[in-house]
Amino acid sequence: MIGVLFVCTGNICRSPTAEGVLRAMVEREGMGGAFRIDSAGTYDGHAGEPPSGPAIAIAKKRGYDLTALRARPVTVEDIVAFDHVLGMDRTHLAALRKLAPKGLTGKPRLFLDTAPHLGLREVADPWMGDAADYERALDIIEAGCAALFEQLRASSLTA
Ligand code: 4NP
Repeated sequence: MIGVLFVCTGNICRSPTAEGVLRAMVEREGMGGAFRIDSAGTYDGHAGEPPSGPAIAIAKKRGYDLTALRARPVTVEDIVAFDHVLGMDRTHLAALRKLAPKGLTGKPRLFLDTAPHLGLREVADPWMGDAADYERALDIIEAGCAALFEQLRASSLTA
């Protein structure tokens, strides 16, 4: 089982979107049982809430159902337990590094460092933005998850 945790600030826009997108990709390939996919936030102010209205609506247009997801804060146990701990921007990477026990190699990382061909390191925060900001975030998340999935699938075949 490969564990993947996406981390953003509120866990109501970027990271639940990435969770929904990667889960859909994995399930489309019949590999749902081989992956544990989750998301969490560095800020607990939205804990218990579903993803934001525009995040749900724009994901739904592309076939992703985010309605069952609920926000939660990231914990040190998450960082230990998940194989891949992926921050959406540098603030998340810094917060995760602060929280992480010493001596963990290779995690946490920036989500988009798994997709260097995109030429981006961060998924910009769409919170309080307009629909185009959410569309752009979803475009980047879909491209990043496609690259990530290819890498994870390759590593699961050789593991
Ligand atoms: P997310 O977006 O990190 O992509 O879920 C945000 C949601 C809420 C806040 C910031 C970013 N906030 O400050 O409440």
